[in-house]
Amino acid sequence: MTTVLLLSGPNLNLLGEREPDIYGTATLEEHVEAARKEAERFGLELEHLQSNAEADLVDAVQRARGRCAAIIVNAAALTHYAWSLSDALGTFEGPVIELHLSNPNGREAWRHTSVVAPVADGLIAGLGGHGYVLAVGAVARLLEGK
Ligand code: DQA
Repeated sequence: MTTVLLLSGPNLNLLGEREPDIYGTATLEEHVEAARKEAERFGLELEHLQSNAEADLVDAVQRARGRCAAIIVNAAALTHYAWSLSDALGTFEGPVIELHLSNPNGREAWRHTSVVAPVADGLIAGLGGHGYVLAVGAVARLLEGK
């Protein structure tokens, strides 16, 4: 089965209780479940890892090389400065989709830089939890088209 890796960065484990006015009230588990259901519709298997540590995400990307077909990554605050994660994603051969619940470009200036963007094939941001479902659909289409 074709496997898609979904990566969640720091503090996303607190979704549901963390700044609900910005990030909504759904939990990360609920977003992952919605993404998993959408993946199944396309015959894809979704694997998920959340970590508050940059190294864990780098390791997960390295393990995905040659094994997973695509990566969807909400790197959270790491998006804005984690060059080791950017480098790791740059070594991944399949499509990479950058995902955010909020629209970082409409927020504080420090969120306007993304080190994921240069190694991503596409960006989904500002659409709340729906972004998780859309990201899976985008990946499915990119994989179909290859
Ligand atoms: C986020 C946006 C980031 O700027 C922030 O640090 C997060 C969440 C989002 O999903 O909107 O933790 O990635």
